[in-house]
Amino acid sequence: MKFFADTAEIADIRDLAEAGLLDGVTTNPSLIMKAGRSIHDVVAEICSIVEGPVSAEVAALDTEGMLAEGRKLAEIADNVAIKVPLTWDGLKACRILSGEGRMVNVTLCFTANQALLAARAGATFVSPFIGRLDDIGLDGMQLIEEIRTIFDNYAHIETQILAASIRNQNHVRLAAMAGADVATVPPTVLKGLVKHPLTDAGLAMFMNDWKKTGQTIL
Ligand code: G3P
Repeated sequence: MKFFADTAEIADIRDLAEAGLLDGVTTNPSLIMKAGRSIHDVVAEICSIVEGPVSAEVAALDTEGMLAEGRKLAEIADNVAIKVPLTWDGLKACRILSGEGRMVNVTLCFTANQALLAARAGATFVSPFIGRLDDIGLDGMQLIEEIRTIFDNYAHIETQILAASIRNQNHVRLAAMAGADVATVPPTVLKGLVKHPLTDAGLAMFMNDWKKTGQTIL
């Protein structure tokens, strides 16, 4: 499973990219608002840091507006993935933009049928929102499982399942078990994946015992 960072915060993206573990970034209008910068400037800076796909979301709600905005966003860098919402207009825009050879991430997916339409529209990625389904008492991970089952029934479907709206480490683990192609993860959750108290305690014990040997390796 590939790891994307779900943020527009440059410092967090730089930290994760320097670890060599970052395969891409997703942004959305709320994350751009939080970053407090122009979408063009922040997406351009992200694309200069991360080689993988960087999702930048259109703000238009009609197909023609999405096409104009999507093509404008795609001018920022070759690794921009145009994000469109899972609406009829978004699907029409996805069909045209993917037909132009552009990466498209169809977002705000909440049902397997929506994901099937996104795949039919030629989406590069479809973003099922796990956390927001959990937030209303539904089973977000079941959606990932259903989409994986459906996509695996058809060899011609190349659309990648980009597990989104991830709230915690269990979401990451379960999305991987369900076969998501990508997980887009908030930096705090992504950085937290490495932590375990037994790892810390075990390392302290190793270092203590190594010190007693009086040896050096170099
Ligand atoms: O960026 C798409 C998605 O990951 C946002 O999820 O629910 O945390 O706003 P959420």
